[in-house]
Amino acid sequence: MTISRAECAALDAADPLGHFRDEFALPEGTIYLTGNSLGAPPKTVAAAVARVMGEWSDRLVGGWNASGWFDLPLTTGDRLAPLIGVGPGQIAVGESTSIAIVKAVSAALGLRPGRRVVVSDPANFPTDRYMVEGLVRALDGYEVRRLEDLDATLDDDVACVLMSEVDYRTGDRHDTAEVTARVQAAGALMIWDLCHSVGAFPVDMSRADFAVGCTYKYLNGGPGSPAFVYVHPRHQAEAEHLLTGWCGHAAPFAFEPGYRPAEGIRRFTVGTPHVLSFAPLHAALDIWERVDLGAVRDKSVALTSLFIDLVDGFGASYGLGLLSSRDAGRRGSQVSLTHPEGYPIVRALADLGVLGDFRAPDTLRFGFAPLYLRFTDVYDAATALGEVMEKGHWREERYRRRLAVT
Ligand SMILES: Cc1ncc(COP(=O)(O)O)c(C=O)c1O
Repeated sequence: MTISRAECAALDAADPLGHFRDEFALPEGTIYLTGNSLGAPPKTVAAAVARVMGEWSDRLVGGWNASGWFDLPLTTGDRLAPLIGVGPGQIAVGESTSIAIVKAVSAALGLRPGRRVVVSDPANFPTDRYMVEGLVRALDGYEVRRLEDLDATLDDDVACVLMSEVDYRTGDRHDTAEVTARVQAAGALMIWDLCHSVGAFPVDMSRADFAVGCTYKYLNGGPGSPAFVYVHPRHQAEAEHLLTGWCGHAAPFAFEPGYRPAEGIRRFTVGTPHVLSFAPLHAALDIWERVDLGAVRDKSVALTSLFIDLVDGFGASYGLGLLSSRDAGRRGSQVSLTHPEGYPIVRALADLGVLGDFRAPDTLRFGFAPLYLRFTDVYDAATALGEVMEKGHWREERYRRRLAVT
């Protein structure tokens, strides 16, 4: 190993983000490398939920007006906006990323009449591919095209392209400015999935046409916290999506016979906001509003590089491969390793208190959330992985039994 634990402790002592760890509830003895799946809870979550419960019992139905519940999708969107480099009035928050994908893709198709192709990256997370395929099946005359080489894939039939800024499996990152410019130069619209970007590093969607993402990974919004859809202001007057729910109506309480879209981003809301699910997200955003995203990126690069260096010391001799890029500039905040026995290795590691996850067929994923991970955690996690490999703990039969959620 190239660095000592004492040197890692010195890095922790000098870490400008180190003080944020105290704001998260993490069990003693656990090294949490799964913040790219479900972020850790801010300690203020219980109080935030209790506050909403108090509003509910004090104001009952009056909470929709007096507590601002009806506007939560938009007020929360304004709080998220700086995290993806856009302005107020450009994000609607609600439902899941899967639903946000339908909103963005269907709106993009409407903005490009005559173009019949949706380009979907085969490297996209399954729900992105499934939702696009389902949407296109329900529409007449459209088709999905697999993204191969971007220039070879783009032509005058392409209405929009859906890609993830960070690949959920490899952890590698696209250059969004460059890809967006190429897609738009071909007359198509660019839709980014930011699930593995937002909260992991500074994101700039100011030129993108649409973006979607979840808030439960690096943003720490809690299990099932609401997702978001961003719509560039240049499209807001024309963009109309398929999910024409009453909350996106121009006059929801006029109960008109037909649908008329609301002005601006409000038309990207659908149904009754999930008020209780917004509470933990607001607790998390209270933290994020104090965070320097540049410092998050610097620490993320340092943490992922340290993990790769440490695993390099023993990985190859046990058949562990590095799936993520060695070039830190091309990585998100995740390091993916490969091993044919990846699943039992991840389970055995969890028994030593190090939580990573597994993605079929052979990928061990480790997420590095800079707000609550320490350099010593990375050192200890790599040491534990070395021990699992050296002693062969993972060979025990019990580690092979697959849990429902991997
Ligand atoms: C890139 C990406 N998109 C979408 C999702 C999930 O979408 P949903 O919020 O609808 O479950 C995930 C979940 O891990 C993801 O990694």
